[in-house]
Amino acid sequence: MANVIVVGAQWGDEGKGKVVDIYTEYAQDVVRFQGGNNAGHTLVVGDQKTVLHLIPSGVLHEGKRCIIGNGVVLDPKVFLEEIDGLQRKGFLKDPAQLMVDGAVNLIMPYHKIIDIARERKSGAKKIGTTGRGIGPTYEDKVARRGIRFADLLKPETFKRKLAELLPEKNFYIEQYLGEKPLSEEEIFEEYMVYAERLRCYLGRVSPYLDQSMKAGHNILFEGAQGSLLDIDHGTYPYVTSSSTIAAGACTGTGIGPHRIDEVIGISKAYVTRVGEGPFPTELDDEMGERLRTAGGEFGATTGRPRRTGWLDIVALREAVRTNGLTGIALTKMDVLSEFESLKVCTAYRYGEQLLEEFPQDLDVLQECKPVYEEIAGWQKDICSLGSYADLPVQVKDYVDKIEAWTGCPVVLVSVGPRRDQTLIRSNPFA
Ligand code: IMP
Repeated sequence: MANVIVVGAQWGDEGKGKVVDIYTEYAQDVVRFQGGNNAGHTLVVGDQKTVLHLIPSGVLHEGKRCIIGNGVVLDPKVFLEEIDGLQRKGFLKDPAQLMVDGAVNLIMPYHKIIDIARERKSGAKKIGTTGRGIGPTYEDKVARRGIRFADLLKPETFKRKLAELLPEKNFYIEQYLGEKPLSEEEIFEEYMVYAERLRCYLGRVSPYLDQSMKAGHNILFEGAQGSLLDIDHGTYPYVTSSSTIAAGACTGTGIGPHRIDEVIGISKAYVTRVGEGPFPTELDDEMGERLRTAGGEFGATTGRPRRTGWLDIVALREAVRTNGLTGIALTKMDVLSEFESLKVCTAYRYGEQLLEEFPQDLDVLQECKPVYEEIAGWQKDICSLGSYADLPVQVKDYVDKIEAWTGCPVVLVSVGPRRDQTLIRSNPFA
């Protein structure tokens, strides 16, 4: 039996969906513990592409239970659309396959309006959020004025909470943000329709997982976004509003840290970032464009072009430490195949200083210049190799160096979007 957390080791979009999908084969339960529909996991099964924002990718496997823990924020409209889309494709026929904890906070229409209008008002100082209402929903959760999934299922409670909250929200929306106020009746009616359809998914995640673990099941915890977007440990304020690091799996589901066996960090063989914020190895040039084109680097949620750059070991080491990574899964290795030579950042230069540790101070980070080591490329197609041993020596050299620089084993190398384009070196569930 093993309980495994998978987290993004960079700024999100590392290819977690694919790795989670592969590991799901070994798990009985797949659990989301933070974030909301700001995430976008693209999965390719056979020739069919499915993009999931909220429901764990395990839903594509029959008989796996998909769990949404208390740490998630849920937009019921988007959730229902996702359920409908999956059912149309023949998945999720049994409602028992999906469970939502009662303490999940709901994304309300005012959260989305506030998110978008605030960004607009911030101009050049904007965060570059996904505009899904994530930040404002977490703000209300922490301020103890959130509406939770269990409240949605009790019409009187929902009505009372909405009546208490909306006047203040409308005041802010109208007077400060200059947007149109919202109607209490319309929100109530809309959300009661969702309530009827979503009632069947209510559950209590913490005792469920406890029992599942006691029954000897393997549990897979599916992180969203990435470690450098963590509310505490990321490049604040250019972060998301949840605990994206591994510890979030415990608070976001209600299980103790000693129940976790392995923590796998997903890292691309290079780096991307969407939204604003510092990115020391960013390539603003033709090389960056080549990486974007070769890697198809456009957001699964918003379609925004992603910023691209060389692999940053300083940032990766930060993720190894904050998550306690026991393994790294290296994705999109095939994207680097066309390059004659590669660069890897092993330290930052800050004025006269050489920094090997990721700075917490954003002003310092913004001034850091990457110190690169140049590595030979392989310029061979590696998309259809059957085993790790078959990889060109330059790829293995790249992997060996990453292990040496981070002190963490590389347990998986992905060489294409399909399931069969995955070279597993060691399995955390074994
Ligand atoms: P929010 O999560 O929508 O509040 O956005 C905050 C920051 O996190 C922005 O820079 C977003 O681009 C980034 N972000 C949020 N979700 C993801 C994701 O799933 N992948 C990559 N970046 C994300």
